[in-house]
Amino acid sequence: MALWSGRFEKGADAFTQRFGASLPVDKKLYAQDVAGSVAHGQMLAAQGVISAKDAAAIKEGLAAIQAAIEEGTFAFDINNEDIHMSIESALTAVIGDAGARLHTGRSRNDQVVTDTRLYAKQRASDLMDANLALRAALLEAAEKHFDVILPGYTHLQHAQPVLLSHHLLAYVWMLTRDFERLAAARAAADANPLGSAALAGTTYPLDRFATTAALGFARPIPNSLDAVSDRDFLLDLMYACSVSSLHLSRLAEELILWSTSEFGFITMADSYATGSSIMPQKKNPDFAELIRGKTGRVVGDLVALMMTLKSLPLAYNKDLQEDKEGAMDAADTLEDCYRCAAGMVATMTVHPEAMMAQAHKGYLAATDVADYLAKKGMPFRQAHEVVGHLVLLCDKRGCDLEDLALDDFKAESDLFEADIAGCLNLKAIVEARTTYGGTAPVAVRQQLEEAQRAYEADQIRL
Ligand code: ARG
Repeated sequence: MALWSGRFEKGADAFTQRFGASLPVDKKLYAQDVAGSVAHGQMLAAQGVISAKDAAAIKEGLAAIQAAIEEGTFAFDINNEDIHMSIESALTAVIGDAGARLHTGRSRNDQVVTDTRLYAKQRASDLMDANLALRAALLEAAEKHFDVILPGYTHLQHAQPVLLSHHLLAYVWMLTRDFERLAAARAAADANPLGSAALAGTTYPLDRFATTAALGFARPIPNSLDAVSDRDFLLDLMYACSVSSLHLSRLAEELILWSTSEFGFITMADSYATGSSIMPQKKNPDFAELIRGKTGRVVGDLVALMMTLKSLPLAYNKDLQEDKEGAMDAADTLEDCYRCAAGMVATMTVHPEAMMAQAHKGYLAATDVADYLAKKGMPFRQAHEVVGHLVLLCDKRGCDLEDLALDDFKAESDLFEADIAGCLNLKAIVEARTTYGGTAPVAVRQQLEEAQRAYEADQIRL
């Protein structure tokens, strides 16, 4: 018998019962459900709605149920379609009338979203923690490979030389912003719907501020209709997960590229690669590919709930039961991806000589040669043209700008002097980009310290 069976003449159909049940998904919310019920029961007693004795029995009974669930001895039964009914009917079976009084002034509509908000807050915190672990791995790699030079790319063509530490720090900043988005999602979830009852509030003298404090929420939600039907906080969480997942897909893609024979910039640790069942020589970056691939499902989770919410009338509708599975999946998936990426970065081997060899290809000094002329008074557009001719000359000769003689330079412009050699050296080119945020070691050192400080500040916010 369902807890709502009073007005029904026939029992439920087995198929629709299974179709309508959310228990397989929401049983994960058991701890939050118990916490919400304890807070509600205590508040009912404090307000004189139930006796202190009943409230004590409720609290004790719920603790025993939580322990049974955690020990794996709780008998879940799909007749109780969700975690709320499962726990309440088990409670009433054990403590009788006191248990049957717990649902006074409450509906599953405010109950479910209270549980979900508590859960979202916890998962946002877990993700912030995992985000920090990945940032720590990247910061450590940036420190370890601080001076390594590789080609920087635009359009995936060699552009200008950059420090590997600079490149890795770009990801640290993406993740620093992702942390901010997760913190914002946690703050969005941090509001208490309990006491809104089914949709309109209740005739009992409930103290919503008391349950807000007991459950550690920042504030009660001011509108009961909004409280039971708002799922924005899950969209916020999934949006934060989606953006971070996109960032991880970019990192994963680069690690995949860098570990190809064509690049040879890094070697993945054996534990972050797999072999082939037919080709004995293969070492595949499966886990980086999975991180890249899982972005699709995280973004899919976000879009799915957006579509579920579209055009939903107020207040609670059963459609809202579709909210939890995707949100849980997005958080679980991102947490695993953070962990996997951190391990991959911490264990990869970097090949500085391969990076440097590539940096010598593709005329990475060209901008600096043009800047050399511009600094001597030639308009930059004209200087650009001159260097274009020099690159063409190199292309024809099959050599690099570094291999040209001073006379070759002078043939294009008599502004060239012997000191042009200083513009052709990759290390000097990198060292010259001292603007704030630039790739010179002095600037990157400053940047690394800033990223480290942001990391430490975020650690405190956990
Ligand atoms: N299992 C439901 C959910 O996840 C709980 C709320 C059900 N409320 C209702 N009136 N049917 O949304």
